[in-house]
Amino acid sequence: MRILSIETSCDETALALVRTKGTGNALTFEVEKNALSSQTAIHAPYGGVFPMLAKREHAKALPPLLRQIFPEVKKGATLPSRTTSWMKKLLAHEGDAFIDALTLFLETTAKPKLDRIAVTSGPGLEPALWVGINCAKALAKAWDVPLVPVNHMEGHALSPLLSAATASKMKLMRFPALALLVSGGHTELVLMKKGFSYQVVGETRDDAAGEAFDKVARMLELPYPGGPEVSRLAKTGTPGRYPLPRPMLTSDDFDFSFAGLKTAVLYTLKKIEKPSQQDKADIAREFEDAVVDVLAGKTLRAAQEFGATTIVLGGGVSANTALRERLARDVREKLPGAVLHLPDAALTTDNAVMIAAAGLFGRARPLASVRAEGNARL
Ligand code: KG4
Ligand code: ZN
Repeated sequence: MRILSIETSCDETALALVRTKGTGNALTFEVEKNALSSQTAIHAPYGGVFPMLAKREHAKALPPLLRQIFPEVKKGATLPSRTTSWMKKLLAHEGDAFIDALTLFLETTAKPKLDRIAVTSGPGLEPALWVGINCAKALAKAWDVPLVPVNHMEGHALSPLLSAATASKMKLMRFPALALLVSGGHTELVLMKKGFSYQVVGETRDDAAGEAFDKVARMLELPYPGGPEVSRLAKTGTPGRYPLPRPMLTSDDFDFSFAGLKTAVLYTLKKIEKPSQQDKADIAREFEDAVVDVLAGKTLRAAQEFGATTIVLGGGVSANTALRERLARDVREKLPGAVLHLPDAALTTDNAVMIAAAGLFGRARPLASVRAEGNARL
């Protein structure tokens, strides 16, 4: 199966072209092309992602990324007027420049061999999601290829099974499996009892783990996105010098809460008259330790409770080395029968390779029924 995938849920515009062969244990997953354009630098001055700005940047980035995926330019041929008028209506909200660029791309590109197009339909920022969805619909219509809407979090859950490199076997997921999904917008424990069906068994009641990292980064006057910055600073910090709570670590459910921890960081900082670089590093270290203690502790307990034989970690925060090392140690020492899969560094943050994987297991839908669902759940 050959899949083109599109991801525009937040601040990365990503496309991938993937070829899969075989099924089950012998499923191979070959990344033919993987193209990504990040808006991080554009949003950085504002300290967060602005949905309308993100939408405009996605529209700018998509046509050149499509050209990266399909570099061969064929001699121009005009699109049938039926197709152009349909596209103009479909893409009315994306602006004339996008319509012109996409029309030019279609007119100068031979129809590729594709079995499906997978596109992220949620969760995410709705204006941003719509650009990707409408682009995918235009391609699906022009090339007559089925369209498969994909849940972004399913992508993150599958990312640890993949490799961003070329042909590789897809790692095996033995069930029951448990996924810890930690990103800027989500913190969830997801159970897969048998097969790729998802049951959220725990989630954050307030801030997501990545969001807490980003907010603490701002308090420590670190640039956006803060997760990697806090983590870097934490490496030079002394553990335990500024004690912080481990919220809900021992609660008898699998939910999380990070808002209180964030406020505790704020109060700790306020109590220090003029925080030195070392004070900040010590706070960053304790904050990271607290988040890792809670995430790993609850994941282990859920894995024991549900008898998980595979544990996967996905989402932007899965780039965090302390979390990766802690989970690896905990699974080795406390869950000897279980296997832990961690994503390749290149697949920790948003990308389209994982969307292609989710698209492989998803179902095609009529174009008109595919819509952006900002709050979609697994
Ligand atoms: O999955 P993702 O790329 O986008 C969303 O779907 O939200 O996750 C982005 C989040 C941000 O909050 C970022 O600060 C966090 O992942 N993040 C990290 C690290 N790298 C990225 N958090 C902690 N440590 C890191 N190394
Ligand atoms: Zn994400």
